[in-house]
Amino acid sequence: MTEKDVYILGIESSCDETAASVVKNGREVLSNVISTQIPIHRKFGGVVPEIASRKHIEHIMPVMNKALTDAHVTLDQVDAIAVTYGPGLVGALLVGLSAAKALAFALDKPLIGVNHLEGHVFANFLSGENLEPPFLALVVSGGHTSLLIVEDYNTFKLLGQTRDDAAGEAFDKIARFMGLPYPGGPEIEKLAATGNPDSIEFPKPMLPGTFDFSFSGLKSAVINYIHGMEQRGETINKADVAASFQKTIVAVLVEKSKQAIKETGLKEIVLAGGVSANKNLQDALAKGAATVGAKLVHPTKILCTDNAVMIATRGYYMFKHGDRSAYTLNAEPALKLGEK
Ligand code: KG4
Ligand code: ZN
Repeated sequence: MTEKDVYILGIESSCDETAASVVKNGREVLSNVISTQIPIHRKFGGVVPEIASRKHIEHIMPVMNKALTDAHVTLDQVDAIAVTYGPGLVGALLVGLSAAKALAFALDKPLIGVNHLEGHVFANFLSGENLEPPFLALVVSGGHTSLLIVEDYNTFKLLGQTRDDAAGEAFDKIARFMGLPYPGGPEIEKLAATGNPDSIEFPKPMLPGTFDFSFSGLKSAVINYIHGMEQRGETINKADVAASFQKTIVAVLVEKSKQAIKETGLKEIVLAGGVSANKNLQDALAKGAATVGAKLVHPTKILCTDNAVMIATRGYYMFKHGDRSAYTLNAEPALKLGEK
């Protein structure tokens, strides 16, 4: 007997994207609707939490409706509703969470609270590769940087994480300092493409003997370099600064990942989180991993940054595992990877 198909409606509203998606059997994307607020927050140089919440309220219903329409799936056919409940902005999270709870209650369908960071890791199951645990994951987003082992679909072992700034945060802060628009990561990558990555030597924070990261010193070094040049009245080549910074941060991420591959003997490493959209990082990590016998898997571009497909996919595996959330599920702004 063939197993019944499982349809999960995923909902994501942790930051500045309102998103909904229907995914069939965990790996078949039937719809992927993302309403981004980036142009609105750009005027302020970063995400304004109150505006984000208000915009989520305006967009959540149309986005959910479009996800169902695009998928040609009715609410009756949906088996469970998966929703991000953390980490993220509390007011933003609450919008998606309230919508998901209301739907689950009205339809009498299971509610599944999903950890956003686990969602990013699970975006790799949609990369077209036949990925199966165990594998390593390097999570690099706006708020998090960590290396972990995905032992199976429900067990994650943290190897190390950032002690201060996240990788995406360093990109964003340096971009802001250089007068580039929000979000800074893609802007730095664009600018770096025209610069010389070997022109400026920035310190490479390695924290030997651990899998932890620290990027605040590197961020300060870049800012001090720009200050120093300005004080001396010298012309700053912004493209060279961007390229040299990007090369340094990528080198640290690749070096640590290689160490983790060697130590664990795992043969696959996946990239997750917004910074995984960075082509330099993808190329350097693919090369670096190959030198120690491992293969890199990364999400398709649209699934690197925030989306609800990854939430539906993570929700599918939790559904299969029997995980269900109570209607008392609350937003957890500081939720950690692997935490319930
Ligand atoms: O995962 P994400 O969309 O949101 C969070 O969960 O944080 O990640 C957003 C982060 C931002 O810091 C953004 O600058 C960074 O990902 N980012 C990039 C690139 N695209 C997005 N960083 C470097 N290069 C990129 N191409
Ligand atoms: Zn994210």
